[in-house]
Amino acid sequence: MVITSGPDEAADIAAGAVERLLASNPDAVLGLATGSSPVPTYRLLIERHRSGRLSFARSRAFLLDEYVGLPADHAESYRAFIDREFTGQVDFGPEAVDGPDGTVGLDRAGDDLATAGQTYEEQISRAGGIDLQLLGIGGDGHIGFNEPVSSLGSRTRLKTLTEETRADNARFFGGDIDAVPRHVITQGIGTILEARHLVMIATGESKAGPIARAVEGPLTAMVPA
Ligand code: F6R
Repeated sequence: MVITSGPDEAADIAAGAVERLLASNPDAVLGLATGSSPVPTYRLLIERHRSGRLSFARSRAFLLDEYVGLPADHAESYRAFIDREFTGQVDFGPEAVDGPDGTVGLDRAGDDLATAGQTYEEQISRAGGIDLQLLGIGGDGHIGFNEPVSSLGSRTRLKTLTEETRADNARFFGGDIDAVPRHVITQGIGTILEARHLVMIATGESKAGPIARAVEGPLTAMVPA
């Protein structure tokens, strides 16, 4: 664990890890988290790309998770979020960024949702697995959207968000908890643990409790992170 003087230094360390990886392997596969924690890291990566220090042209990226039931072009879908905050501002190739398909919606054939996780796992494995996965941590200790009691060996699948997570994320939906989807497709904890390097970023006082439970508490499915 690295305790930094603030979010800027944390972002610098995380961006440095991505930069070193791409310098040694330009074809590296990145795992990207959304939410607010990695945004300063993405800003640094965009700056370093613009200054010619860093290229993503040969790399690929996989999102950690996606809301279910939002139209793909909804501003808060994680595909739209990552495009706006990071991938659309650097030089990833046109097909280089993937996320779980959350547009299948709960009212369409169950098969779509049941197989969306497996399909995504296959895409990640065809790409050779994830070299570096960026992560945040939820107020309830979630990682990806693996909420408390998620199996530590879980794979990409449909999950239901806790009320705490929906309340936390209402800030992205104009403060309206009812606008926050109830369901998501998320990489499982087992999937995340297969990445070759994990970098979790936690900033701000609200993360002190979950970080203490994750780092100092017992290994338990109640604290997926
Ligand atoms: C996002 C994700 C979540 C967030 C977590 C923290 O892709 O999987 O686990 O990392 O909810 O969110 P922020 O960073 O907004 O506090």
